[in-house]
Amino acid sequence: MKAAHPTLPALGFGLGLRTDHYEAILAEGPRVDWFEAISENYMVGGGRPLRWLERIRERYPLVLHGVSLSIGSTDPLDRAYLIGLKALAERFEPAWISDHLCWTGVAGRNLHDLLPLPHTEEAVRHVAARVREVQDFLGRRILLENVSSYVSFNHSAVPEWEFLGAVAETADCLLLLDVNNIYVNSHNHGFDPLDYLRAVPARRVQQIHLAGHSRSGELLIDTHDHPVPEPVWALYAEAVRLFGPVAAMVERDDRIPPLAELVAELDRARAIAVGTLAQAA
Ligand SMILES: [Fe+2]
Repeated sequence: MKAAHPTLPALGFGLGLRTDHYEAILAEGPRVDWFEAISENYMVGGGRPLRWLERIRERYPLVLHGVSLSIGSTDPLDRAYLIGLKALAERFEPAWISDHLCWTGVAGRNLHDLLPLPHTEEAVRHVAARVREVQDFLGRRILLENVSSYVSFNHSAVPEWEFLGAVAETADCLLLLDVNNIYVNSHNHGFDPLDYLRAVPARRVQQIHLAGHSRSGELLIDTHDHPVPEPVWALYAEAVRLFGPVAAMVERDDRIPPLAELVAELDRARAIAVGTLAQAA
């Protein structure tokens, strides 16, 4: 088994921090090892969200997960955004900061969607140079997450997993592997999700997202509004075999259930990881 990247801690099992759960987290102290906060929700001058985050941060490790970096865009990097992100990180000291391998807008327009990139040499060079700039500015490595997609580019030269690996190696960044997105894309684009997992540079995988999806006609859509389905659990077990005990979390963005339901899903992730690692020992 290959070890996780040695420079960052393996945090255990976490949950995406959602406003619906603020009170329950503080009142119940759930069996959650860490929380992932959406960066943009807290890049504000003051107010209640920051106060909640402060109280939760006193009790739990935290990671920051962004949706606005738009690392693949041809627009210049958003300096104001980066300054805000750095200030947030200095205040809350997250174990790490992540965003997505995608673009969210161009020519100054934000499309509010995580859009896929063509898998080309040119895109690798473009994205990697920008990741290096971001990492230099923040003074730390970032994690990039693989996104779900519903179209592909005719001029893509290599499969998604090779593109992801090439960006990570060229930029010297880390990876947040969303196994639900891998499953969704394997269905939508017709590949074997195990081929994807086995090709990812294992030592760069720092975090795993577990989530659910829904079906729309022929396509699977990355809606994050359902429990983690069986095929995604199976992929997670394979990911543990390949990557070891990297931090994993359940990511629910819609139809948010009571906290206890997500903690139970997280317990299943924990049990799968423990069982898989015991088998591999
Ligand atoms: Fe995700």
